[in-house]
Amino acid sequence: MIRLDEVSSHQQLVITPPQSGLSLQGTVTIPGDKSISHRALMLGAIAEGETVIEGLLLGEDPRSTAACFSAMGAEISELNSTEVRVKGVGLGNLQEPDNVLDAGNSGTTMRLMMGLLASSSDRFFAVTGDGSLRSRPMSRVVKPLQEMGAQIWGKKGGSLAPLGIKGTQLKGIHYHSPIASAQVKSCVLLAGLLAEGKTTVTEPALSRDHSERMLRAFGANLEIDSETNSVTLEPHPTLVGQKVVVPGDISSAAFWMVASAIVPDSDLLIQNVGVNPTRTGIIEAMQLMGADMTLENSREVAGEPVADLRVKYSQLKGCTIGGEIIPRLIDEVPILAVAACFAEGTTIIKDAEELRVKESDRLAVMAAELGKMGANIIEHPDGLEITGGATLNGAEMDSYTDHRIAMSLAIAALNAKSETKIHRAEAASISYPTFVDTLKDVCQIA
Ligand code: S3P
Repeated sequence: MIRLDEVSSHQQLVITPPQSGLSLQGTVTIPGDKSISHRALMLGAIAEGETVIEGLLLGEDPRSTAACFSAMGAEISELNSTEVRVKGVGLGNLQEPDNVLDAGNSGTTMRLMMGLLASSSDRFFAVTGDGSLRSRPMSRVVKPLQEMGAQIWGKKGGSLAPLGIKGTQLKGIHYHSPIASAQVKSCVLLAGLLAEGKTTVTEPALSRDHSERMLRAFGANLEIDSETNSVTLEPHPTLVGQKVVVPGDISSAAFWMVASAIVPDSDLLIQNVGVNPTRTGIIEAMQLMGADMTLENSREVAGEPVADLRVKYSQLKGCTIGGEIIPRLIDEVPILAVAACFAEGTTIIKDAEELRVKESDRLAVMAAELGKMGANIIEHPDGLEITGGATLNGAEMDSYTDHRIAMSLAIAALNAKSETKIHRAEAASISYPTFVDTLKDVCQIA
């Protein structure tokens, strides 16, 4: 029913829904949150003493972060999900690496790290990434860093990687970010740690606040003004290593939320889901669509809210999603598009132009690939319009090396009438290395 084939050094995921139908049953435990994993490694690397990380995501992206910070002197134990130990170099003491820092496919690694490199006085750094990352806009962090006094050079006038950075003494600024981006906010705040004077970031809508929470836990002083979506950081804190428990990634849980909601007779318990309010847009959107979803066992783990989610099949209905909720479900738009294919009526996703500069152009790719299956989907400059109810047939599709595309198409394939092949499915390991194993575990022939 579900198999992975090796095809000329890539993996092809083949999904053949059985004639008798299938449903999803059982319990899924969600691997560590990608955003929190990056931040735990980075703050651990620049803090004094030891940071112990429990539940680190073992995906390719956090591995890129670990490799970059090891190259700058942090001592990071072998990566495993039970316990990773990071011996930090202390604030301002990142070493000049011998070679180029490679962020791989990870925008978070590159953009957050840039803030720390730009403020590492008198050291030189070169950063690069894979083909996807080298085509993603870096001016969104280069510009505020330059305003703080940073010296940065790069392709296309410093707007694309590879980038060169000469660390220098920065000054604090008040940055009014034109986009609600946690990567931009975090980059500027991390640069502000060693700046002269306070650093403030104001964003047009609230993006995920994991950096703020973790900086505070490590000893930084931050003031948050929720009325204006502003955060102000006092420079030169003493950052001290901490124990970090990483909750499961709600962006990974989203695949199971949608799968269980759209495949008839499904009933899944999704355990260990981080439900930080800056990330729960997907739960709100699914509830708006009429999903049968309950939160159980709500608790707080190491400063982050966590819950288990029970999701059962129900007939979804279309809805309109836009505005301030978008940054709170930014990575879930591809899987939400899949949910919309099986909802009654039309779903409109708007104000989501940011999707065009993710690991792939997620609006164009989802419209093209779901279109191949027969979905009624229209691409707009800032979103998607999907009318549910069309029969989806299996198709031959591509992940475009984008992890969230690979997994979203796999979930769509569960409800298709015939076999689907997803090329370059190994992309899933960027954020969810055990995705296919879990998919096999929960799919039951009816
Ligand atoms: C992330 C922020 C988001 C998100 C990305 C992870 C983070 O990007 O899409 O997957 O960890 O800060 P933007 O901040 O660019 O929206």
